[in-house]
Amino acid sequence: MAILITGGAGYIGSHTCVELLNTGYEIVVLDNFINSKPEVIKRITEITGCTFKFYNHDLLDKKSLEQVFLENDIEAVIHFAGLKAVGESVDLPLQYYYNNITSTLVLCETLQKYDVKKLVFSSSATVYGLPERFPISEDSPLRALNPYGRTKLMIEEILQDLYVSDKNWSISILRYFNPIGAHGSGQIGEDPNGVPNNLMPYIAQVAIGKLKELNVFGNQYATKDGTGVRDYIHVVDLALGHLRALEKNTYSKGVEVYNLGTGKGYSVLEMISAFEEASGKKIPYKVVDSRPGDVAVCYADPLKAEKDLGWIAKKGIDEMCVDAWRWQTKNPYGYEINQEIKSPYFIKSEDFLIRNKY
Ligand code: NAD
Ligand code: UD1
Repeated sequence: MAILITGGAGYIGSHTCVELLNTGYEIVVLDNFINSKPEVIKRITEITGCTFKFYNHDLLDKKSLEQVFLENDIEAVIHFAGLKAVGESVDLPLQYYYNNITSTLVLCETLQKYDVKKLVFSSSATVYGLPERFPISEDSPLRALNPYGRTKLMIEEILQDLYVSDKNWSISILRYFNPIGAHGSGQIGEDPNGVPNNLMPYIAQVAIGKLKELNVFGNQYATKDGTGVRDYIHVVDLALGHLRALEKNTYSKGVEVYNLGTGKGYSVLEMISAFEEASGKKIPYKVVDSRPGDVAVCYADPLKAEKDLGWIAKKGIDEMCVDAWRWQTKNPYGYEINQEIKSPYFIKSEDFLIRNKY
């Protein structure tokens, strides 16, 4: 019996594959590398000393997906595959709706056909929109503010409807807060295309000299130092949350939603200091206008996951920064191993969409 991991070559998927293999699970991984690199598959094997079946398939391709189910005894699925860049989703809404939603429909139809009814789905804290009460619990009002967020919200609703139609499903919807850090080996980590949108990879690239300085998006928020506050969670802790959800899905039916966060909020300036401490590098920054659509504060109430899944995030902000820095220094160009930094502030410029023939 194996667990199918869609999007298993991605940032969170690859860390989850490592934890599953280390725990003794048999896994089958499917990814079309639209936002990841084949090198990661090799690295997962190196870290764990385990081999596994990999399918370079598009989840939108129903025939190829059926082949996976015909060739393997799949008992459950962790569904990471999806496009995830908020800004890009505003420019390319149709691609986001098509890729994220249609692929989930294809997956669920296939699961139904092969009578596999255990599913763990990657959702996001983005479904809370502009939260009003903190910490944010799972029953807070939901409102997505961009096409990416709406794909997550729509998929959550589709999964709820699926369970209403057939009570044999066991579905865990996991709402991630801000995953950062990397595996302790420094072999796998976050490998964004081009200039990173998110704070931690941006800081790491400033520290290593690929980017000149960090733009801090606003310092007038009603927070401890005026900069945005987020719930950063170590990607390995997050990965372990999927194992706990999978265990729960084996003995109970239903659809449940869980926040995966630490319950603590850190400001942008606090993250800069923590990273400076971890790396021994100065992070030059300047304060610029706030980013449209950003919320001032976002942190989880993670108690439901603790109570139901026995899961709690254990790694602190220092370890997150140390691990992110180890990954960055060992892999200055991510998984593109043969590149060197040719000049300060050199930026890879391939357009993700052109490269992937959208
Ligand atoms: P990622 O882009 O690194 O991984 C997603 C993987 O899915 C990639 O390897 C990509 O190639 C693959 N993929 C996308 N569309 C596919 C398709 N049609 N067929 C096959 N493979 C496909 O992203 P991640 O950070 O690992 O995120 C994993 C999931 O968690 C995503 O669904 C994302 O929306 C969600 N999420 C991520 C964050 C975050 O901050 N990283 C936060 C909340 C939720
Ligand atoms: C982003 C996504 C959100 C996703 C979340 C989890 C956007 C608009 N939102 O949110 O949908 O669920 O990641 O990964 O992309 N910051 C800077 N300078 C930077 C980058 C960020 O000051 O160069 C600040 C932001 O204003 C924010 C904090 O750092 O206060 C964290 O930003 P980021 O890492 O992009 O995450 P989120 O904004 O939480």
